[in-house]
Amino acid sequence: MKVLVVGNGGREHALAWKLLQSKQVEQVVCAPGNGGTATLEGCYNLPLAVDDFEGLTKYAQEHGVTLVVVGPEVPLAKGITDYMLKRNLMVFGPSRAGAQIEASKAWAKALMQEAGIPTAKAAVFTEAAAAKSYIKSQGAPIVVKADGLAAGKGVIVAETVEQAITAVDAIIGGQFGNAGNFVVIEECLTGQEVSVLALTDGLTIRALLPAQDHKRIGEGDTGENTGGMGAYAPTPIATPSLMARVQTEVLEKAIATLRSKNIDYRGVLYAGLMVAVNGDFQVLEFNCRFGDPETQVILPLLETPLEDLILACVEQRLGQMPPIAWKKGASATVVAAAGGYPGAYEKGKLIAGIQEAEAQGATVFHAGTKLDGQVVTDGGRVLNVTGVGDNFEQAIAQAYTGIQYINFEGIYYRRDIGHKVRS
Ligand code: AMP
Ligand code: GLY
Repeated sequence: MKVLVVGNGGREHALAWKLLQSKQVEQVVCAPGNGGTATLEGCYNLPLAVDDFEGLTKYAQEHGVTLVVVGPEVPLAKGITDYMLKRNLMVFGPSRAGAQIEASKAWAKALMQEAGIPTAKAAVFTEAAAAKSYIKSQGAPIVVKADGLAAGKGVIVAETVEQAITAVDAIIGGQFGNAGNFVVIEECLTGQEVSVLALTDGLTIRALLPAQDHKRIGEGDTGENTGGMGAYAPTPIATPSLMARVQTEVLEKAIATLRSKNIDYRGVLYAGLMVAVNGDFQVLEFNCRFGDPETQVILPLLETPLEDLILACVEQRLGQMPPIAWKKGASATVVAAAGGYPGAYEKGKLIAGIQEAEAQGATVFHAGTKLDGQVVTDGGRVLNVTGVGDNFEQAIAQAYTGIQYINFEGIYYRRDIGHKVRS
């Protein structure tokens, strides 16, 4: 098989790495890829943007690509799957209609309400005045969300009514472009967040190991939100009984409701849950793709060949597959970020120590890097250093042993990844 992976993050490096572990996969091409996919044996970068559907399709047709795996939400929301399916390519990832589950929070909320999926109480507005009077009637804390894709920046958890009102003005005022045509005002939930990524062929849906990520920049989960500073799996708060409830109360209901709308959803359905202290949970959001950095901790534990699962989804025969097999034990990843991230940061810093980190047993997935003669930084989240072990202690220790060898000017990483699962 020759697989085209679309995207350039840590998630796509992990997908390429996992796919290449199989004898069936001869080559992976990553578009546009990063410094990690450029230096991974059997993997090549293709310098095309994720939304260059014409260029990607032409490449796939002319170079015998047997499967396209789409990483990020933006091309899915723009219809890459519909475009490529029409041109007879095999694509893993939902259609444009299916991707609305991530691309429109109002649409996703309506779907959850229709399906009876547990989720926070919410209301949707197009007019600032109505949104503000609703906020005043509800009081704070309250959550204000831009409807559309906003690269993780469109959600404001407001501690006060004033903050919520400022957020409404920013969203309706166009700070998020078209993503702000609607504003969703939602009850503020508390608890621990869990990411349940599931694979589906539109009929059957199977959860992967549950993961948790650390969204805040600072230790103790403080400071600004980021794309994710680290993650671990399988998280113990998602107990088997909780996962059984998620299967029937969330995943199966979502797929059945999508099907009732004539949406044939084949790809990843990612449910972001808030789990309360008493074990009850609600869905905060759905994503239409693999999580980043969750993928970098889930795939190292996957034993079933990834391409078998992906092909079973694309060919709609996931129900005939044996249960997904997992390695026993745990994994953790620590993100090395550029100094200043999530604010302004510099690029082009030489990265040292990747091989040394890997010699310690860690796996280094690149995110914001590029190959420019040597591997240099090219983004805010630069690398993910992943450890695997019999338990969280070992997995976390391997990741931190590895990251000590990594160096670039301004490197920053949190020292407390997995603090909730360390003894
Ligand atoms: P979303 O993109 O909707 O998942 O929101 C991004 C982040 O905002 C989530 O991961 C949570 O940390 C936070 N968030 C979203 N909705 C809520 C809510 N109803 N209550 C509390 N926090 C929330
Ligand atoms: N780690 C959160 C996400 O991928 O959206």
